Amino acid sequence: MAKFPVQRLRRLRATPTLRRMTRETLVTPDDLIAPLFVQSGAAVRTPIDAMPGQCRLSPDTAAHEAQQLWRLGIPAVMLFGIPPDSEKDSIGSSAYDAEGPVAQAIRAIRQAAPEMCVIADVCACEYTDHGHCGVLREHPQRGYSVDNDATLELLARAALCCAAAGADMVAPSDMMDGRVACIRVALDEAGRTDTPIMSYAAKFAGAFYGPFREAAGSAPSFGDRRSYQMDIANRREARREIESDIEEGADIILIKPALFCLDIIRDAREMCDLPLCAYNVSSEYAMIKAAGQNGWIDEARLIDETLTSIKRAGADMIITYHAREWAQSQ
Ligand code: PBG
Repeated sequence: MAKFPVQRLRRLRATPTLRRMTRETLVTPDDLIAPLFVQSGAAVRTPIDAMPGQCRLSPDTAAHEAQQLWRLGIPAVMLFGIPPDSEKDSIGSSAYDAEGPVAQAIRAIRQAAPEMCVIADVCACEYTDHGHCGVLREHPQRGYSVDNDATLELLARAALCCAAAGADMVAPSDMMDGRVACIRVALDEAGRTDTPIMSYAAKFAGAFYGPFREAAGSAPSFGDRRSYQMDIANRREARREIESDIEEGADIILIKPALFCLDIIRDAREMCDLPLCAYNVSSEYAMIKAAGQNGWIDEARLIDETLTSIKRAGADMIITYHAREWAQSQ
């Protein structure tokens, strides 16, 4: 192998043009998916404290937002529903309300930005009064547990409801076993063989989702999510989760969080050829925003470096709250 002084890696870093020519990873608006929080009502734009720049939106303002995102070149939005507390119950039944905020927002976005890809997050935690991602049952030793198989039915109904409202894709984020297969069967039986499933294959439990839970009012009222979301320490188990979701029929694999899981994203990239999505989560966003507001970092550059790192790790798509701001700065 040629060595110094024959080999000088700095040669190709010398000018902006050379760096441009040798740059391996390029982020474009095509790579981004913007998450939107939707609630019922009209003309709502309520700022979320822990996520500066993000708001809770009503279907009309969500449609307007989607239209602007589309004009900025962003091809997709991901919707999270925030029902009023009065709609929540122990089995999350408003998750499949055809008149709920997500269904309404899907229809409004369809009108405002017809070509936009509308992805519906499918989970129970925003809709249950206890804030867990599924149906609870009593457990002799542990007090309670999230009933996997009873939850599958709820998830399938929620996915169907979103597809019927016009969602282009559904994205189950609950981490129940077998939900991809169950949702696939339900969609197919309803004639929706063309609706893809973006599966949150490896989703880790942790403090990463704090700001989101404030935004969505979805924090568990007791306990935590460690019996269904993964332990952040486990890399091999993530591979097993990815494999099983592929076998069950996932069309796109999602890894979450993103910055804390760059190794997992790389593993996923190397083990399969499915399109790969990474979720740059609420805490990753909030940390950059907080440091930026304090003048401690160059926020715009750090956002760019964040997105580039996630893409370099192997993601094809990035769900990020920075989507709009980043696209505007290009
Ligand atoms: C629903 C869901 C969560 C997020 C996406 N879907 C919250 C959670 O699992 O508690 C978090 C996203 C983020 O933090 O930005 N289960």
